Amino acid sequence: MFKIWKKLIDLKLFRTLRFRLAATFLCVLTAVLLVVGIFGTATLRGILEDKGLDDLKEQLGTLKLNTQGPIQFDPDSGRPIWFIDVTDPEERAEAARLQAVYVIADLQGHVENGSCNEPGQKPLCNSARIRSDVAILQKTNEPYLQRIKGTDGTTFELLSSTITDTKRDVKWYIAEGRSLAGDQSLVRGFQRKFLLFFPVALFICAVVVWYSAGGALSSLQSVEKAAQEITGSNLGMQIRKRGADDELDRLIDSFNEMSGRLKASFEQMRQFSTDVSHELRTPLTAIQGQLEVALFTATRKEQLQEAIENALQDVERLSNLVRALLLLSQSESGQIPMNKTVLDAAELIEEIVDQFQIPAEAHNVQLSAGHTEPVLCEADRTQLERVITNLLSNAIKYTPAGGWIRARAEAAGPNVRLIVEDSGVGIPTSHLPHIFDRFYRVPDPNPEKGLGLGLSFVAAIVRAHGGEIHVDSEVGRGSRFEVVLPTGAVRAPAESPAVHT
Ligand SMILES: Nc1ncnc2c1ncn2[C@@H]1O[C@H](COP(=O)(O)OP(=O)(O)OP(=O)(O)O)[C@@H](O)[C@H]1O
Ligand SMILES: [Mg+2]
Repeated sequence: MFKIWKKLIDLKLFRTLRFRLAATFLCVLTAVLLVVGIFGTATLRGILEDKGLDDLKEQLGTLKLNTQGPIQFDPDSGRPIWFIDVTDPEERAEAARLQAVYVIADLQGHVENGSCNEPGQKPLCNSARIRSDVAILQKTNEPYLQRIKGTDGTTFELLSSTITDTKRDVKWYIAEGRSLAGDQSLVRGFQRKFLLFFPVALFICAVVVWYSAGGALSSLQSVEKAAQEITGSNLGMQIRKRGADDELDRLIDSFNEMSGRLKASFEQMRQFSTDVSHELRTPLTAIQGQLEVALFTATRKEQLQEAIENALQDVERLSNLVRALLLLSQSESGQIPMNKTVLDAAELIEEIVDQFQIPAEAHNVQLSAGHTEPVLCEADRTQLERVITNLLSNAIKYTPAGGWIRARAEAAGPNVRLIVEDSGVGIPTSHLPHIFDRFYRVPDPNPEKGLGLGLSFVAAIVRAHGGEIHVDSEVGRGSRFEVVLPTGAVRAPAESPAVHT
């Protein structure tokens, strides 16, 4: 049994969203219908009972009307007798209604008049039962309602009271009743109809839900199909929206955006590998050429030495490139080893500017650090050094002799700003948006100047710190690079003097 159940669960159909939606809806509908059925039956029963009791009270009142009523007392014997005008059809019908279930007896339980011989009504005329009713009536002085099972299984509702023969001042037991068979069959009829309607309603709803869920989910299948069809050659594949602006359209939107992003990042990777192989090939070809020439043509020791020196230079360029690529790929995949501490950015800039004085002098460029107050921020010292070093080495590279370079740090609310500006060659506006891309270099007659990786590395480090980098530049007048970093967990300097050492 368990195995069969497990097999059923494993069936593909049972695991579909469509099936689950329909099943959930039907379960809820079944529960609601059951509650409606139970509540409906109880309400119907209550209404019938109230109405039956009102009728009984009204009938008992009619019987007790005494001299004006249908029951009167024989002037000679004093016994209760029916007083009906048989020629009046209305009175006859009323009498028949009153006589359907009734009992008149003396207080000792001797039945004087009653419907005792009607089918199933014998227990109503039982003397012992009547005596016990009389005892209750004398105690409570209120009409007494009870249910009695008839001999044929019918249940009777009996409302008993007393009637007084005012002439003789004698009390009689009087009870008016009704059979509950009619009410019960009405309730059973309602239940039968409801039980018939129940599966029909469930079936109709199941069919409607199954088809409407299928219709709504068919668009999901188009998303699924599109996802399956995506390969390396059609990464940017887009699915057409349905125009309903619903959850599904939003899912399609997200899917389209995702495939757009996938395409862009695959494109970037492809571009990257092309760039890398291109960059590696140039020095490799140069090394190969130099070594071959030396091997086949060099006759003197100096020629061999020169070839090896040239090859070594290219090897160095290669190893720089490989190191830079490794760092770059680490930083771009978020693997920069971050060891954040609170540091003084102004002091750090001053230190690095000192180290760059020799190359600056060699280029005949004036390099200075704008001295400021301590500028504290939370950052990785080594990575921040790399940022400043790259910006300064660019400034030196791209500033002709006689120019100047200034670097400084300043606090700016929740951020710190690191600024490196120069009076160098500047960057044409059309190139500005690309200088942070890998291997991007503004065309330069001197290809030895760099690999085009420095600024992309700087941008990755700044991003990893949650900061931004901006550049302003004008050809022939110079450039200004501004790095904005959040100060992080730095309190106001006055509160934490111990941090700044
Ligand atoms: N201070 C600057 N003045 C003028 N041009 C600059 C400056 N800084 C960067 N550039 C331009 O931006 C390009 C990209 O700079 P980036 O630092 O990424 O590469 P690179 O300096 O050429 O090589 P690498 O830094 O990898 O050795 C440079 O080739 C240069 O054209
Ligand atoms: Mg550079």
